Amino acid sequence: MKLREITPEELNPEAYAEEQAREIRRAVGDGTAINALSGGVDSSVVTLLGHRALGDRLHTVFVENGLMRDGEADRIVKLFAGLDVKVELVRAEDVFFGALAGLTDPEQKREAITRAFYQDVFGRLVRGGGAKHLLQGTNLTDVEETVAGVKRQHNILSQLGIDPERRYGYRVIEPVLCLRKAAIRRLGRALGLPGELCGRPPFPGPALAARVVGEVTPERVALIRRATAIVEELLEGSGAFQYLAILHEDRVTGMRDGKREFGCQVEVRCWDSEDARTGRPTRLSFDLLDTMAARITGEVPGVVSVTYNVTTKPPSTIEAI
Ligand code: XMP
Repeated sequence: MKLREITPEELNPEAYAEEQAREIRRAVGDGTAINALSGGVDSSVVTLLGHRALGDRLHTVFVENGLMRDGEADRIVKLFAGLDVKVELVRAEDVFFGALAGLTDPEQKREAITRAFYQDVFGRLVRGGGAKHLLQGTNLTDVEETVAGVKRQHNILSQLGIDPERRYGYRVIEPVLCLRKAAIRRLGRALGLPGELCGRPPFPGPALAARVVGEVTPERVALIRRATAIVEELLEGSGAFQYLAILHEDRVTGMRDGKREFGCQVEVRCWDSEDARTGRPTRLSFDLLDTMAARITGEVPGVVSVTYNVTTKPPSTIEAI
């Protein structure tokens, strides 16, 4: 099925929200639905749309997969409590790290995350709670990149020929499927999503696993989580579309306290983009890059090298995996 984009200029946020809420109510009938909130713009908008449509009949969960940014679960649960949306925290670190153990191929890692998410965590929640529908924030760029074979985005199912009802036991509703990031942000503002969430840089479904080259272990994720916190602190307010830190697999010789340290390499990426389809590296000042390198090597144990990516997308992609 060819999807027709609704551009930010075409979008009438109020009318769109009403139409989608009606559609969600029609699909769910008098049943219940479930949705995963990650704190990104897409899932936050879908959470508000779903609650507008279904009220308490929508069960919203935050899946703690062990791959999220520092303090994220707490921050998002509190933020949504302030919007009168109750979010249940589901702990599933072991499921995700178990699924990822030993994998280094990017597509296999993505598949393992998809399976852990839809089959193990949601399959269990749906069997336990009786919901027959899952609401999720798949957007047009996610679909296009997956169908084009660039990379399998974690939330793509039917477009890959997967029938979620047969495979996992629930139907999937995707209320922002025809929108891209700028339009989703517009919709979020109209729904009353706080600026702190609306203006947030995109964050991928596979979370920090999309930024660890090689095996994704709790220790390697902990390292990139610390580097990410520094990059986000320094680049917040830069106006860039997205910024991130990547952990490489290769080690290099560095020196600390006059001795050799065969350590890790972190790559920083900062993107100017409209909708993630193409991107250019932001021309950050060298002083800022200096500060970033000094802080990452000084504050993240084991890192001896920091690089800045100056490649455009394409041929690069925004994330590393
Ligand atoms: P790439 O790395 O393909 O990313 O240039 C394009 C945009 O999509 C985000 N991204 C994802 N979002 N599930 C998502 O919901 C995913 O599996 C996924 N992979 C990448 C990425 O952060 C960027 O904004």
